[in-house]
Amino acid sequence: MATILEDISRTFNEFLLLSGNTTKEHIPANVSLRAPLQRFERGKEDEALCLNTPFVSAAMQAVSGQDLAIALARKGGCAFVYCSQSIESQVEMVRKVKVHKAGFVTSDSNLAPEAALQDAIDLRKRTGHSTIAITDGGGAHTKLLGILTSKDFWEFKDDLSRPVSEFFTPLERLVYAQEGVSLQEATELLWENKKECLPIVDKDGNLSSLVFRRDYFDHKSNPDELTDDRKRLLVGAALNTFDYKERAKALIAEGVDCLCFDSSDGYSDWQKEAIQYLRKEYGNDIIIGGGNVIAADGFQFLVEEAGVDFVKIGIGGGSICITREQKGIGRGQASAVLDVAAARDKYYEEKGIYIPLCSDGGLNNDTHIIMALAMGADFVMMGKYFAMTEESPTPKLTYKGRLYKPYWGEGSSRARNWQRYKEGADQKMVFEEGVDAYVPYSGPLGGKRDTTIAKIKATMCNVGALNMKEFHENAVLTRVSEMTLIEGGTTHVEQLDRIQTEGT
Ligand code: IMP
Repeated sequence: MATILEDISRTFNEFLLLSGNTTKEHIPANVSLRAPLQRFERGKEDEALCLNTPFVSAAMQAVSGQDLAIALARKGGCAFVYCSQSIESQVEMVRKVKVHKAGFVTSDSNLAPEAALQDAIDLRKRTGHSTIAITDGGGAHTKLLGILTSKDFWEFKDDLSRPVSEFFTPLERLVYAQEGVSLQEATELLWENKKECLPIVDKDGNLSSLVFRRDYFDHKSNPDELTDDRKRLLVGAALNTFDYKERAKALIAEGVDCLCFDSSDGYSDWQKEAIQYLRKEYGNDIIIGGGNVIAADGFQFLVEEAGVDFVKIGIGGGSICITREQKGIGRGQASAVLDVAAARDKYYEEKGIYIPLCSDGGLNNDTHIIMALAMGADFVMMGKYFAMTEESPTPKLTYKGRLYKPYWGEGSSRARNWQRYKEGADQKMVFEEGVDAYVPYSGPLGGKRDTTIAKIKATMCNVGALNMKEFHENAVLTRVSEMTLIEGGTTHVEQLDRIQTEGT
């Protein structure tokens, strides 16, 4: 006979946190939300790569393109660029994030002096960058001859067939610096000369990199920015269990910081085999996440047999997900996180190795995020939260005077992500596991993220926790009755916005 678990499957809504002792030290400014993205041995916490904001974005077509990846890394989190696209286009997105860094940027817009103005316009459209280095042969690291910007020509007046050499600002009229200059010195030069861009050249006059004024301001206003040791923004990418060998190779060559298998069910031999292959090929240097699982046995399988760095939890809770209806597989996200977190803590106690956990999907408000973290997740993966923002890859649409963005599941026919949902090689997708929907537009990511972070930090202060470890240890939760839920909402008051709406 089948096994029936004792407790029912529970969701985040069924819990509340009790307040703990808040001392004078427990103020938001003292709270750190740093979260490991990588397994580590006891006492070696400092060696693990950490997120500054415990958010990662779902590997979905409607979510994790390069713009969201850049915006999220600037705010301390990390995007997982989706793999339901060709290897080339996924790698190109990763490349765009890696070249878009504060500090010394390898120029991605370069032309030879004999190129036409029209070529400059086409290049600007392609890269989104209006500063074009004019170099010998148009190389990124060949002899620098000058710089062309939008200010040097009039797109609708000048003859676009004429060569850029007739319009650009030549090297002798440029302010530039030699390789070896520090970022601080470069910034000083930009400031003193009131320039937007400072080219850096090597001893032979070859272009090395560019330093931009706007990056300096960006950096100042994003103190949580997540960068690698070369000051490039951090970015992750998703893998499937089909073309992972070629995909991982290309992504690693482009400098991706972490990989994660994107699968609705990670408790599978396909994922184990793929992870073992990557470990053998690339060792422990590359960060690999696995999942999704919803119970302790799935966690043990991925950690002990496959060898992942972090484990992703959740089946069927995603806002666009219909897996539970279609296949009867899944578990309430709270039960899943609590079960896996208990297994993780036991593993840490016995083996001295900490495995970070990621709660993935179904986080429909800031309270759900707080609950997931309190229950033991180190960071959360979200789709809808990011799909709603300005930086997600989809266009804004107006419906009845309100702005929306399209949002569809990776298991929907729209995503045509055959690999993720097919079980064996040549099997075609015969039913959908996700829907094609719309979500309200919520504006730029920055402000939204800041509000969520403010709430998390405030809750942690109430609980008496200054970091994620203390939050996990100090959190005391209670299950709630239906009556408690009603009590928790507004009761016996009329809200102004409702009166106003009814009055019109
Ligand atoms: P959300 O944050 O609630 O929108 O959920 C996002 C998560 O849903 C993703 O990270 C995936 O784990 C999961 N997901 C994405 N697409 C599908 C789908 O089509 N069916 C089921 N789950 C999906």
